[in-house]
Amino acid sequence: MCGIVGYVGKSKCVPKIISGLESLEYRGYDSAGIAYVTNESIKIKKEQGRIKVLKDSLNMNEESYMGIGHTRWATHGKPCKVNSHPHQVGDITIVHNGIIENYEELKNNLKEYKFKSETDSEVVAALIDKLYHEDKDIIKVLSKLKDYLIGSYALGILVNGDDNIYAIRKDSPLIIGISEDGNFIASDVPAILEYTNMYYLLLNDEFALISKDDVVIYDKNGEISTKSLMTFEGSKEAAMKNGYDHYMLKEIYEQPKVVMETIKEYILDYKHLKERMKGLEKYDAIDIVGCGSAYHVGLVGKSLIMKYGKVPVYVDIASEYRYTEHIYSKKHLIILISQSGETADTLAVLREAKQQGIDTLAIVNVVGSSIAREAHKVLYIKAGPEIAVATTKAYLCQLMMLSLIALYLGINKGTLDKKIINEYDNMDLLLEKELENKKELEDIAKLIYKNKDIFYLGRKIDYSLCMEASLKLKEVSYLHSEAYAAGELKHGTISLIEDKTPVISIITDDDIRLKTLSNVKEVCARGALSIIISNEDVLDKSLYTKLIKIPKVHELIGSALVMVKCQLIAYYVARLNGCDIDKPRNLAKSVTVE
Ligand code: F6R
Repeated sequence: MCGIVGYVGKSKCVPKIISGLESLEYRGYDSAGIAYVTNESIKIKKEQGRIKVLKDSLNMNEESYMGIGHTRWATHGKPCKVNSHPHQVGDITIVHNGIIENYEELKNNLKEYKFKSETDSEVVAALIDKLYHEDKDIIKVLSKLKDYLIGSYALGILVNGDDNIYAIRKDSPLIIGISEDGNFIASDVPAILEYTNMYYLLLNDEFALISKDDVVIYDKNGEISTKSLMTFEGSKEAAMKNGYDHYMLKEIYEQPKVVMETIKEYILDYKHLKERMKGLEKYDAIDIVGCGSAYHVGLVGKSLIMKYGKVPVYVDIASEYRYTEHIYSKKHLIILISQSGETADTLAVLREAKQQGIDTLAIVNVVGSSIAREAHKVLYIKAGPEIAVATTKAYLCQLMMLSLIALYLGINKGTLDKKIINEYDNMDLLLEKELENKKELEDIAKLIYKNKDIFYLGRKIDYSLCMEASLKLKEVSYLHSEAYAAGELKHGTISLIEDKTPVISIITDDDIRLKTLSNVKEVCARGALSIIISNEDVLDKSLYTKLIKIPKVHELIGSALVMVKCQLIAYYVARLNGCDIDKPRNLAKSVTVE
């Protein structure tokens, strides 16, 4: 999604804004632009494509100490120079992240303006310009802007002849960074980490005046509000590549550490687990909602929570759930899963659930994000900043969190012994071991990277893992991949299996092992190139070309060992295909629009 960076201070602004935008590249974008104030005027440069193209067109040494920059992920209008931000209308120059739903109606009432772009954002610039000329007071304009706009927005605003940056937000994230040298606005913390780790979190309908040595924040009524300054706890290194070729690889290899940190935060012993999870045992029905990988991890959680916690669990994609009729029990819980904590559809489900009086629990990575703030209860995972667009470490930490919920409920319901807690003790070592043998996964990638279709097969929890493994592969490598419930294949999709079509089967569930193996036989009979990931030997060697053996551990933790193998397969296939692994085409990290 779009990224915003602004700076006003004692240093030249262009290098700071560009490096801030580069730190936000992970959010996904297709064009970039900057507006900066010089002695004569506000200058604007925009380019389609990578930030590098914009950078090459700029004088990085420009005598300018205030400016706003933007990376655009196209929603209204195709990716091109004219649709890129900043947009300047009259005395107002803006960068915008979000979607203005009533922009057509607003545009109809702004007939005196001539619009150059197809964007909703340019309409907002015109609206602010019109109100500014009526009121002659930008603070007054910002305090009433919410009465005009329907939708989501984080805005960075420059006003001709004014020495301040103005910022306002609703349902799109925005922070204000504070440093001795000057002050920033940004969509996310990594953009300012090179200069400061101190920031204010702007909340919905709040707005701010940012000058070179002061920040004034206003509440939704236009009153000055006092806010506490936040400190980003992670190191800057946590948001850097640290010698790895890609963030995705770095984040895959960080998993032993961050998974262990997540585990330790919640279980030092049973007493500790009970303190952190207390209250979850009172629910008689649970819905788990998320998007993409967060939905997939919810499916793994469903298997574990139903089996051990003995509670009915329903899992759905947020964009479906929010438009579906639901029947809630008196003791119903909705678990919202989101790495970013800003995903528009997941946030909408949370708000709707709260309105209906249903208890909500959020599993979130980004501290202070909207979903984390608004849910009744939040369980933070400890993944740290995840920069690669394709999630790896956040998924695995979410998986652990759901496993801990199942563990807690299982102990509570008597299906699990407290001793199982010890199984989590060596999780980091187990994961490290599985990440050691990357050669076997590189070899598999070499076998399959030229194919046009790849299938993942599994049953029950293994099927849920297949869905994530398949998504990982297709999003970073652009190969067509599908996850199939092994028993369902012969009801249609098996017609796609040709000679040498790769089929990767995940088989870790003892109850269903033989059934899945029968399905592997069926695809082998049709010439498939079979790869099996299993926690047991497969005696019939004709059933696979490659077998990836993982250790046999308790089901509560076994899925994590499978997933690191699948992540590495996806990574190496993408690498062999020369893909832009950390920023796959068309994708955005934090999907703040529906
Ligand atoms: C896939 C991926 C996405 C996200 C989804 C939800 O690798 O990262 O499918 O899982 O966009 O995002 P969050 O977790 O931020 O709500």
